Amino acid sequence: MLNSQVLVKVPASTANLGPGFDTLGMALSLYAWIEMEAADGETAIELYGDGLEGIPTDKTNLIYKVAQLVFEEAGVQIPELRIAMYSDIPLTRGLGSSASAIVGALVAANALAGSPLSEDKLFQMASALEGHPDNVGASLFGGIVVSAWDGVRAEKVRIAPHRNLEVLVAIPSFQLSTEKARHALPSKLEMKDAVYNVASSSLLVAAFASGQLELIPFAMRDKLHQPYRAPLVPGMSEILEQATSRGALGAALSGAGPTLLTLVDRGSSRKAELEAFLLQTLEKHGIQARTMWLSPALNGPELSIVGRGHSGSFMERVKGEVKA
Ligand code: HSE
Repeated sequence: MLNSQVLVKVPASTANLGPGFDTLGMALSLYAWIEMEAADGETAIELYGDGLEGIPTDKTNLIYKVAQLVFEEAGVQIPELRIAMYSDIPLTRGLGSSASAIVGALVAANALAGSPLSEDKLFQMASALEGHPDNVGASLFGGIVVSAWDGVRAEKVRIAPHRNLEVLVAIPSFQLSTEKARHALPSKLEMKDAVYNVASSSLLVAAFASGQLELIPFAMRDKLHQPYRAPLVPGMSEILEQATSRGALGAALSGAGPTLLTLVDRGSSRKAELEAFLLQTLEKHGIQARTMWLSPALNGPELSIVGRGHSGSFMERVKGEVKA
């Protein structure tokens, strides 16, 4: 049965977590909301939130296009849509905003069509759309997601994050496209660097899975992508080198950057010191940034069936949950 109007709340994500390039992801307590219904007239797309000004509101919009892929796969026709989105996730900063939009669009469109596609099918579609499963896996399943995609099929294991794990991000005011950050990577690696990353990533996953947070400082190190991306984010090398001596369990470039992410023990007495270190280091290198304390998001998308004849506006529905 087709639903008439659906609202999906979907978490942001951080990818890589240092060594797990294109394979590790963690959902974060920062959200986007997407509402979708069949339009009576022509397609209309409303976007709310900072920095969304340049995003198309016609049928070239990513959410619209992804929704149509779902309808095509499901064999239903809903060519005209009313879509509303509000997002707290900063764009092009390495916090998975596009993955959240893709996952939100897949889940919303599937619900609108009466949920004909399985969660696994949505994961396969999301991985193919992004070209890697790390961000979309985290946004879709919540928690820490270890995933592998061979270009045809994605598989994943979800790990429940340790309850003491807290996240501090420093979000620079400038944007960095994933495309640019991927172009900075070399086409070949030294065998010793590849081995270093296999070891670090494997140990990091085992540390998360077994709750051995004390291994994070040793495991959350990378020689595959971060050294090559460091010139794109002034201050990054210093932060990655020194964060563990300033109160972090580990530090990484969040996804393709420019956001820097640190994992912190929730009970740490050094949170203020770490936060000041991140901001001062970036400032020293001429980078303005803001920090945010986040937690791992334990769940993937939350779906509500709004139904026609509801009262109130879209923003009133998301209000109350939306961070100031
Ligand atoms: N794993 C990806 C990267 C995440 O680091 O390029 C960003 O989309």
